[in-house]
Amino acid sequence: MEGGGIPPYREIEPAAISGPDTPDPARRTASFLTLHDAAMDRTLAGKTAVITGAGSGIGRATVLRFLTAGASVVAVDRRPDLAEALAADVPAGSRDRLAAVVGDIATEDPAREFTRVALDRFGGLDILINNAGISVVKPLHEHTPEEWDSVMNTNVKGIYWSARHVVPVMIARGGGLILNTGSISGEAGIPGQGAYAASKGAIHQMTRQMAIEYAPHKIRVNAVGCGTVDTPLVRWSAEKSGDPDAFWKMLREGHPIGRIASPEEVADFYVYLAGDAASFFTGAILMLDGGYTAR
Ligand SMILES: NC(=O)c1ccc[n+]([C@@H]2O[C@H](COP(=O)([O-])OP(=O)(O)OC[C@H]3O[C@@H](n4cnc5c(N)ncnc54)[C@H](O)[C@@H]3O)[C@@H](O)[C@H]2O)c1
Repeated sequence: MEGGGIPPYREIEPAAISGPDTPDPARRTASFLTLHDAAMDRTLAGKTAVITGAGSGIGRATVLRFLTAGASVVAVDRRPDLAEALAADVPAGSRDRLAAVVGDIATEDPAREFTRVALDRFGGLDILINNAGISVVKPLHEHTPEEWDSVMNTNVKGIYWSARHVVPVMIARGGGLILNTGSISGEAGIPGQGAYAASKGAIHQMTRQMAIEYAPHKIRVNAVGCGTVDTPLVRWSAEKSGDPDAFWKMLREGHPIGRIASPEEVADFYVYLAGDAASFFTGAILMLDGGYTAR
């Protein structure tokens, strides 16, 4: 095993394991129905994608939609229980197109490992979605140095580690697509977003920089600047807020469209961006935000 510390990929068996931020059964059923409805979609047949932060929220929904659209997927998450819960929701017919790598993307080893797994298991690597991210919700001056480093190392340095291993492969293959999960916090000032805002602003600028740098190699790089998405991350924040009803109201009213997004809406947009119909996009920060940044 190269690098040490990260286990080699393994086939992940269905398991009824759940964790504190595992989506509840009702939400799982909903995504399963979405898969069923979309059963004829083969937009991404033959493509291999690596998706980080795959165990929950946006990443999880995107893995399921990519599999439905015919892609092979290397799902990356630091939590093995979430990777196993994800596998339990994958229809039997897609399981041979899913591999999992468990590791912390703030370190280099997972990037080395997921690149190797994509090549060894599926014979290529066409799409990388840098989606894993964390936040600390408090004023900047109250961040501890450890919280600052943790957010920046996961959200920003994780993309650097990915690039270090994936870009040479994409150059050798004659092209590829990198999609980064950005945020309204990368564009607008929002209280309590300290390190998170800095990290998402950095991601947006890295997206532009990488798009220009790698355009000659036919590697396209885009970011999706999400507004609030109904994921375990946000549900956790609502519970911690002390007044969940007021919190949800504040989130809805913050978006001119009057609601927040579902993870499946983001996943559908990623499928579109990964398909041939979106082939002229590069260096774009695509705001999927219900009008938040249009104000
Ligand atoms: N939910 C929102 O409202 C929202 C809005 C804008 C942007 N985003 C971004 O979307 C992305 C996904 O967020 P989400 O809401 O789905 O969150 P989530 O917490 O539901 O899922 C994130 C997943 O990433 C994994 N992860 C976190 N740190 C990791 C690390 N260091 N290594 C490997 N895996 C790691 C977690 O285990 C989890 O499974 C993040 O980049 C987030 O900043 C979310």
